[in-house]
Amino acid sequence: MSKKTIRDVNVSGKRVLVRVDFNVPLDKKGNVTDDTRVKATLPTIKYLIDEKAKIILMSHLGRPKGGQSNKIFRMDVVAACLERLLGVPVQKADDCVGEQAQQAVSQLGEGEVLLLENLRFHPEEKANDAGFARQLASLAEVLVDDAFGMVHRAHASNYGVAQFLPVVAGLLMDKEISMLGQVLSSPKCPFVAIMGGAKVSDKITVINNLLDKVSTLLIGGGMANTFLKASGLEIGKSFLEADKVELAGQLMQNARDKGVELVLPVDVVVAREMSPNAEAQVVPVNAVPKDSMILDIGPETVQKFTAQFDKVATVLWNGPMGVFEMEPFANGTMAIARALADLKAITIIGGGDSAAAVEKAGVADKITHVSTGGGASLAFLEGQEMPGLTAIQEIDRSEVFSQYPEESVSWVYPS
Ligand code: 3PG
Repeated sequence: MSKKTIRDVNVSGKRVLVRVDFNVPLDKKGNVTDDTRVKATLPTIKYLIDEKAKIILMSHLGRPKGGQSNKIFRMDVVAACLERLLGVPVQKADDCVGEQAQQAVSQLGEGEVLLLENLRFHPEEKANDAGFARQLASLAEVLVDDAFGMVHRAHASNYGVAQFLPVVAGLLMDKEISMLGQVLSSPKCPFVAIMGGAKVSDKITVINNLLDKVSTLLIGGGMANTFLKASGLEIGKSFLEADKVELAGQLMQNARDKGVELVLPVDVVVAREMSPNAEAQVVPVNAVPKDSMILDIGPETVQKFTAQFDKVATVLWNGPMGVFEMEPFANGTMAIARALADLKAITIIGGGDSAAAVEKAGVADKITHVSTGGGASLAFLEGQEMPGLTAIQEIDRSEVFSQYPEESVSWVYPS
C-alpha cells in the first residue's frame, strides 16, 4: 500500500495532530543554534493553516534523563523560534497529555497553531505505551507524521498513535521518503556515493547496500583510516578501528567483485594533536609521520574525488571528510560541499554532520535535498524497516476506523 499524504485528506476545520521532529541543537543558555528542522516543517504547517485545520504540533527535544520534565528541554524556545519563522502566533501547552493539553486544544481556532510540551517528559513516549498513545490520539481526529528524523523509532507519538488514529504523511516526510527512496530504488546513473565520518562500523550496512547501486564509492573521514590500514599503509596515531581492518579489506574486495571503483585518499592533512591551534601539514598517504594523526583529506584527494563528478547524474554524501569543526581540518569537507553545490546532478545529503557541513559552507540551498534525519537517513539507506513509515503504510485501517464514529472517518478517505 502506498502512503497517503495530507494532500489526500480533508483537514478543513479538523483537529490535526502533527508529529514533527523539533529535536534541534541548543547552546548552553538553551538557545536554538540551528533551526533547519523547524524550517523544514513550514510547508506542512502553512498548508494546514491555509486549509483552516486546528494544528496541534508535538515533538521530543533532547534526551531528558529518566523521561522526566527538565526545564532545559522545555519546548518554549522552539515555540518562539517557530513563531518567528511562521509569522503567526504559536500557542504553547504545558504538557502534551492530560487536562492542560485537552484545554489548550479545546480553545484552538481554525488555522491556529498549538505546540505541546516535550513528549519525552513522559517515559511512556519512548516505551511506545498504548495508554499514552491513546491519550495523545484523543486530542485529534487525524495524525500527520512529518517527523522523518525519528521515523526509525517506534515511539508512542508516531507508531503508537497510528494504532488509534488515521495517519498520513506530512509534506516533509513525503519529500524525504521520495528523495532517499529514489536513491535506493532507481537512482539516475552514473551514481557516486561519498562516505565519511569517524567510524566504518557505523556505515558497513550502508556501504554494502550501496555497492549494488553505485558506480564509484569515495571514502574519506576517520573511517578512511581503517581502509588505508587494510591497504597496508601506516597511519601513525590516527583513529583506527583495529577490529574492523579485515572487514574494510572485505568491503574493498566486494567493491572489486561488483565492478565498483572504491577511491581512497591519496594525501591527507595531519597534525600531532586534534586542536583548533594545531600545526597541520599535508602529506601523501604513504608518509604519515608516526607521531601524527590524519584529520582531513588533502588537496590532491579533493581533486581526485571531484574529478569523479564529471558526468555524474546522482551524488549521495554521508559523513564529513575530516574534523571540519576545526579550521585547520575543514578544507576537505568544505571543498566537497562546494563541488556538490556546482553540480547539475541530483545531490542528496544524509542528515547529521554532512548537513551541518553544507550549512557551514553556505551551500545548503544549492543541494537538491538535505535530509533532516541523521540516524533516520542512515537507517533508511541501510534498508532497515522504518516503524514510522510502516505506520503510515500498513496499519489495518478497519481497526483504526472502528474506534471512531462514521462521520469522523468518512472525511479522511473520501470516496
Ligand atoms: C535525531 O535527532 O536523530 C532524532 O530526533 C531522534 O532522536 P533520538 O536519537 O534521541 O531518538
